[in-house]
Amino acid sequence: MSVIIEPFKIKSVEPIRMTTRAEREELLRAAGYNLFLVNSDDVLIDLLTDSGTSAMSSEQWAGIMRGDEAYACSKSWYRMRDAIRDIFGFEHVIPTHQGRAAERILFSIMCKKGDVVPNNTHFDTTRANVEFNGAEALDLLKAEALNPAAILPFKGDMDVQALEKVIAEKGRERIPLIMITITNNSGGGQPVSMANIRAVSAVAKKYNIPFYIDACRFAENAWFIKLREPGYADKPVKEIAREIFSYADGCTMSAKKDALVNIGGFLCTNDSKLAGAQRDLLILTEGFPTYGGLAGRDLEAIAIGLTEVLNEDYLRYRIASTEYLGRHIADAGVPIVQPPGGHAIYIDAKAMLPHIPVEQYPGQALSIELYLAAGIRSVEIGSVMFARKDAVTGKELPAPMELVRLAIPRRVYTQSHIDYVVESILEVNAHKERIRGVRIVKQAPFLRHFSASFALI
Ligand code: F0G
Repeated sequence: MSVIIEPFKIKSVEPIRMTTRAEREELLRAAGYNLFLVNSDDVLIDLLTDSGTSAMSSEQWAGIMRGDEAYACSKSWYRMRDAIRDIFGFEHVIPTHQGRAAERILFSIMCKKGDVVPNNTHFDTTRANVEFNGAEALDLLKAEALNPAAILPFKGDMDVQALEKVIAEKGRERIPLIMITITNNSGGGQPVSMANIRAVSAVAKKYNIPFYIDACRFAENAWFIKLREPGYADKPVKEIAREIFSYADGCTMSAKKDALVNIGGFLCTNDSKLAGAQRDLLILTEGFPTYGGLAGRDLEAIAIGLTEVLNEDYLRYRIASTEYLGRHIADAGVPIVQPPGGHAIYIDAKAMLPHIPVEQYPGQALSIELYLAAGIRSVEIGSVMFARKDAVTGKELPAPMELVRLAIPRRVYTQSHIDYVVESILEVNAHKERIRGVRIVKQAPFLRHFSASFALI
């Protein structure tokens, strides 16, 4: 059987709205050609992010009603804490309102000016939080993983030799922690192998450097390990997840991804002294340590979501559906980051639109066209998001890749929606030489992609 079926049925529906191309042209002009600024009501298929966009299950909605809203030590808190301990195995669990709040607390306590934090690839908020604390965020992906066309099973793996070199050159005392992001979102949603996690952990132990995992998409990563890494085919995915975290000293988590909820996150550590300092900071800005800025009902939904996400029928469907989208557009000649990632397909806009120079942001240009042509919202992950400034000349240095991400919300769209996306992309591909580059007319000093305005060239 090759047909992909959703392992759920639909109990509640939310209408989506068709618009005309002329309407979309007007809407986009008003939004300064920034898709973050387009109303969701004017989007047909919203692939901007897989974050906080999941459909919750009937069990989760039932949990919402059961949520204990006590300020301190609520029943829902203990359910969430125990669900996290059961999978992640860390002693201290600190709830936060989302992933970046966990990052802010982690880095502001562990990092100071002059420090260096290695990661396979920092996500944008992770990088921004490291840099905001005066530290340098270093991406240590293997060179072959930077080639979008290369088909490798674990393209998210950190370059362990490069890590050793960084420690030798910068000095162990300047590295407050080593981090690895599973799956590697900014590098194409690519998984990290257990072997690599083990190797990075061994290096961290050798130098006595804490090792943390950015765990947003841990279940998807564990499923890829089951599919692709020798020795794991017969292991339950929950056991694989447990093994992953057994090699780490802690993690940050945006529950908005693999906890199948619309808001929430947490920070874990085995270091009691650190946990004390983290809780103090939590109280200052997020809330009491048994709710951390969340409602009791949110804690409940996270506890249930963490169990559901490890259901193997769900993961099989989830990864097959994303792969289906990637394979169908790639087979028709659209260059994508290969192999298809877990939560998203990344179109290689630089390869698809060779007539648009990187200074004219081919990724932004393509995401604009996908909206104009089909009402699909995607996001540029290229130089708009990640360009750097040359310290001497002040000139903008382009990002290593110019990608457009099509992130698939969990349990939200059906296979016919995915077929619509495939057809639309193929139509855009057929007249791609007509797509024009863009320039930035207004931008913020950091995380500029959220608010910048563009003009078509
Ligand atoms: N780490 C990774 C790998 C992420 O993908 C994200 C968020 C975060 C941390 C921050 O979590 O949003 O809950 O504060 N990624 C979303 C995305 C925004 O669209 O990829 P958050």
